Amino acid sequence: MDYLITGATGFIGRHLVPKLLAAGNEVNYLARRRSASLDSRAAFHLWNPGEPPPLDSVPTVDIVMNLAGEPVAQRWTQPVKRRIYESRVDATRRLVSAIERLRHKPSVLISASATGYYGDRSDEIITETSARGHDFLAGLCAQWEQEALRAKEFGLRVVLLRIAPVLGRDGGMLAKILPVFRSGLGGRLAGGKQWMPWIHIEDLINILLFSAETPNVEGPLNATSPQPVTNAAFTHALGRALHRPALFSVPQFALRLAFGELARYMTASQRVIPEAALAAGFRFKYPDLAGALRNLLE
Ligand SMILES: NC(=O)c1ccc[n+]([C@@H]2O[C@H](COP(=O)([O-])OP(=O)(O)OC[C@H]3O[C@@H](n4cnc5c(N)ncnc54)[C@H](OP(=O)(O)O)[C@@H]3O)[C@@H](O)[C@H]2O)c1
Repeated sequence: MDYLITGATGFIGRHLVPKLLAAGNEVNYLARRRSASLDSRAAFHLWNPGEPPPLDSVPTVDIVMNLAGEPVAQRWTQPVKRRIYESRVDATRRLVSAIERLRHKPSVLISASATGYYGDRSDEIITETSARGHDFLAGLCAQWEQEALRAKEFGLRVVLLRIAPVLGRDGGMLAKILPVFRSGLGGRLAGGKQWMPWIHIEDLINILLFSAETPNVEGPLNATSPQPVTNAAFTHALGRALHRPALFSVPQFALRLAFGELARYMTASQRVIPEAALAAGFRFKYPDLAGALRNLLE
């Protein structure tokens, strides 16, 4: 199969590309610059996301995976929020419009979204049919998904992956908090009662491949382990896996001082389950947190 990927140079893309190449696929990626760390068999195509992507220069593609976006885990100034929005909503609009103009269209578009779609939901169990939230991230995800869904109008199967925070050694949330926990200074955030969805990087890559290969999968798919945990349970499990105490508790006001508006999203409660993926037959290799952390940390 011929794949076209945006965001291939990021944390998720760096795990995805080797898997696709090893399975004998052709990989093309659209990026702002060539990545020295990606396998040179992956073909680079320069894309300034403020302009239409140059799909004329890309050979015939079967499957598009759309993973690009300005990092969300940073202090949100107005320019940062604008980049977070434009690099997802506007860039996806340009990508889909360019696909529409192709004579030989791909059959599938798998587009990233996030569990942030659901907002802050206390103890409610959230599936793909749950309503969206009403904050900045929820609105962003909803508009990002709407832009991707337009590809359905001209015949593509569109999968919207609502991705939970991804656990991996070399990126995402875990890599950021590990130094604090390793030094014994880890702890709960704002009381720790809030639910945290999460997914092991290997399961996420497998959901991406499963979405590409399974013809009846379409629409929103929660890419999250079937066992969300509270932040207190996550803190305990991580301290245990590292053989370090994790007794601290960081109050909301301190988070707000350090992270500004983002703090509210760091403590949002989202008890999300992957109902659609399980119903479609996807099996998680790392359904429970202790097993996932053992694999990643030992
Ligand atoms: N990792 C997670 O825990 C997680 C959770 C939920 C959702 N997601 C979503 O999944 C997607 C991939 O995540 P990731 O962790 O792999 O992201 P990442 O490591 O931050 O990389 C994403 C890619 O986006 C491109 N990018 C960054 N800033 C950009 C900008 N201002 N304009 C245009 N492109 C930009 C970069 O590609 P180039 O520099 O090559 O152009 C980068 O390689 C993202 O959309 C993210 O929001 C991730």
